[in-house]
Parts: sequence; structure tokens; C-alpha cells
Amino acid sequence: MSSCLDAARPETAPAGTSRFRPAIHFSARDTWLNDPNGLVFYGGLYHLFFQNNPYGNVWGNMSWGHATSHDLLHWTQHPVAIACDETEDIFSGSVVVDHGNTSGFGTADAPALVAIYTSAYKSASEHSGTQAQSLAYSTDAGMTWRKYDGNPVLTRNSANFRDPKVFRYQGDQGACWVMVAVEAQHQKVVFYRSEDLKSWHFLSDFGPANADGGEWECPDLFPLAVDGDPDHIKWVLIVNINPGAVAGGSGGQYFVGHFDGDRFIPDPDSLVAPAGVTSIHDPKTRSAALQQCLWLDWGRDCYASVSFSDAPDNRRIIIGWMNNWDYANELPTAPWRSSMTLAREVRLTAVNGSARLIQQPVLAGLCAGEELTPVKDHMGADSFELRDSALRLPEAVPGSAQIIEAEILPGSAERLELRLFGSSDRSKGTVLSYNTTTAQLILDRSQSGNTRFHEKFSSAESAPLVLEDGVLKLLIVVDHCSVEAFAQDGRTVMTDLIFPETESPENSLSAVGGSATVLRLAVSTLT
Ligand code: FRU
Repeated sequence: MSSCLDAARPETAPAGTSRFRPAIHFSARDTWLNDPNGLVFYGGLYHLFFQNNPYGNVWGNMSWGHATSHDLLHWTQHPVAIACDETEDIFSGSVVVDHGNTSGFGTADAPALVAIYTSAYKSASEHSGTQAQSLAYSTDAGMTWRKYDGNPVLTRNSANFRDPKVFRYQGDQGACWVMVAVEAQHQKVVFYRSEDLKSWHFLSDFGPANADGGEWECPDLFPLAVDGDPDHIKWVLIVNINPGAVAGGSGGQYFVGHFDGDRFIPDPDSLVAPAGVTSIHDPKTRSAALQQCLWLDWGRDCYASVSFSDAPDNRRIIIGWMNNWDYANELPTAPWRSSMTLAREVRLTAVNGSARLIQQPVLAGLCAGEELTPVKDHMGADSFELRDSALRLPEAVPGSAQIIEAEILPGSAERLELRLFGSSDRSKGTVLSYNTTTAQLILDRSQSGNTRFHEKFSSAESAPLVLEDGVLKLLIVVDHCSVEAFAQDGRTVMTDLIFPETESPENSLSAVGGSATVLRLAVSTLT
């Protein structure tokens, strides 16, 4: 069967070489990308496969691109891993290391990497009009892939059955493979099990629940110890939704509960209201109800987040696609279009008795013994008063990402305001603010630069944010065309794309309507 690729292109994505090219986020060299696929740590490298159009910079010809990294910040792009052909597009899925050689694709000593992906069948296929799950495997550490002759391995004769995430489940009766996938238009996560990755048995389904106003896509399921307590394990079910997310368009929600090897049972405090009677279906109460769902990210540009298989030290690390289907195909960059979020380590912590996810960006090599990425301190300051007159911060350096860390006591201020890529008269810029009256964190990109390329791009997002001990804690990563804000040690995360104009480069911090105390401020660059 001929592939829809004519040439392989081993390339390293040139970081920061064009105005909006991110320095520490993965973007494809000169083509389109969407969802992260097949995230796996293998042979000392993080592998990122991704939805890729090898021929252009809009969605189409879906294939799996491939990149690897030592530190999750700097990526090397490799030739396309699994290419579409005349019968199928290669939609999203996952990769497992088949340690026990259950599939027979490798050997006990040299386990194969097995990709479980969605075959989106085209009109030339006998399965035309359906989506089903297929396998491909690699015995050379992910560099080349062979499709399994017995594909597809799992079909439901459905047009929207996709995005399989497979993991090894260790239950009372021994180990097996578990797949979570979606019936996208029915807002259902479906669960299957297998001994050999080839033959699958239906277990159960989950949904609709909480945000269900769009297609459910790209699920993930994993256990985490609450506050690190090995005797208090909870399961996290990630369900991405498009449209219908809290900030509009695409986004990722999660549920906390229990998985017993057969079904997922959500904790009652993870649900907005019993299924079917949620206020989410009433247009008058929908937006308030959406704010009560559990969101991975409250911004506009974090979608299709899924986690790595086999990450070192049993860590759970996720990456999302930093974009939104509302305007994804029209982002003003060329020849590349779109990038991934930073890798984020997720943990569970108890918040008022409920287990909730916290996320920290992975900003230094996680691999033990690896050299850490140098972080240069540009500004550090001890406690001082902040007033309405804006405090200038160092400007972003082209080719580098900027990391801004702040701990602030709001005092009498009505609003704390961090302005990025702004103008001195404060009419321009991307503004991250904390409103002390409404206790909301707001990311406003309406004056951020080029917002004109799509009518749905200009926006301001908000998230409820309760301060601990009265202190606002922020860690913000700015990388050419993106802002990722991690508030309160990663309890609330907001990610937005921005396309700033060159004539407004100023960064500043101010307290509006009163004075605040800055307890800590650090600005550093990461190249
Ligand atoms: C999510 C998604 C997946 C699908 C892929 C196709 O962004 O729609 O459901 O597998 O993208 O590119």
C-alpha cells in the first residue's frame, strides 16, 4: 500500500527563529499539528507523536508526526511515524511499551512499542464512514512503524469511535491492558480490556456528565496518590470537549473517582449535579454551571491533553495541544502552525476535603542525572509596596521564554495587574489580573496585538481563585505567542495564545485602586 508521504524529513524544529516560533514549546518545522499522540518515555527519551498534516499547515492528511526530547523543553523532529494512505487517516491514539511481549510484536528482551490509533476510514476503504481502532508497532525505538495486518482490531461500526488511550492495569486478578476511548457524539467514554492488544472486550461506559455541550474526545485515565499518600489512591478521568468548554470552544475537563478494573465511578463531589438534570442544559444557568465543572485549564488554548506512558519515577506528565478548534486553522503563523503546551506534571491534592488536580510546568530536566536547563535570573526582589504606577519588568528576549514568578498580598488593591507586551499608556497588552472583590483570575487578550485574524479570537477568560493565607501566587510562562499562568501552585491554570505587535514590548506590574505588598518577584529567561 502506498503511503501519502513522498519523502521523509528528519529535521530539528528551529526554536525561536521566526517571530512567533516558541522557544520551549514543540511546533512542527513547517507543517500543521494538532493533538499530542502516543506520549511515551522510552530508551531515555520522551517521545511525542502528534496529529500532523505532512503536506501543509491546515488540518488534513492526518498522520502521526514524531519528535523526541531529553528534557520536555527542547525537541528534535523526526520523519513522519505513521502515515495516512488512500484508505485511512491516522487519528489520535496512544503508545505503550509492551514489556511482556503480550502482542508478540517484539521479544521478551526487546519489547515493541505498540501504537493504538484510530483508523478514520476514507471512501476507498471497505470500512468507509467508520472509525475503528488499529495497531502499528515499532522495534527500533519508535523510529519506524509497521501497521498490523489484522487491523482494525476493534470496531463498533460507529462513525465517531476514536482516540484510544491504553494503559496496563494491575488488578486483583492480574494484569491486563485497558483502553479508554470515546463515542464522541454521544458524550461517552467507553472502556475495553485485552490480554494481547489485539482482541478487545467491552467493559463499560461513562457519560454524559458535567460539560456535555460538544463532542467528547481524547480521554485518559490514571491513578494518583492524594497528597502523595499511597493508601489514598484516586483515579482521574480526563475528557476533552469541543465545543462547550468553560472558556468557549475546545477545552479539557476531568473527573475524580474510582476505577475497579471494570468501570469508572465518579466521586459525587466531582459532579455538578446528577446526569440529565444538570443546570448545564439551561441556557440561563449554563455558564455558572460550567464554572463548577473541573477544568484542567480555564484558558482558551489547551486541548486534547493526555499523559505519558512509562514516565520516570511514576510521575504523571501531560501535554496538551495549545490551540482551539474555534480558530485553529487560521493562526497567523507560517509555514508552521500550532504548538503544544508545556509538559505539566499533575498531582492530586485535597481541597476542602475533595481531591483536585494541581499542575506544575516541567521546567527542568526530570531525568535523574540529566543536566538541568540553565535558568538566568534577570530580576529578583524582596518585599516592597506596589501601587498604581506600573512597575516595569524586564522585556521578553526573542528566542527565549520568560518565566515570571510572583507572590503578592493584595492589601487594599482592587485589582492586581500584570501586563505583558503592553504599551506605557496601558491601552495595549495581554493582561492577567486578579480581582480582589470577585476573587477571579482574569486573562484578557482583547488588546494583545493581532486578534483580527478570526472573529472568535479576541477574548477574556476568568476563573474563580481562592487565595491561601491571603497571598496570590503566580508562575507565568511567556513564550513568543503564548501565556501559561499557573496560580496557587498550579491549582488554577490558564493558557492563551497571543500574537503581540512589535511596537508594544513592555511588561509591567501594578496594583489598581489601592496598594499591595509584593513578597517575592522573579523574572528569568529560559532558552
Ligand atoms: C481532537 C480530534 C480527535 C481526532 C483528531 C483528528 O482534536 O478531533 O478526536 O482523533 O483530532 O485530527
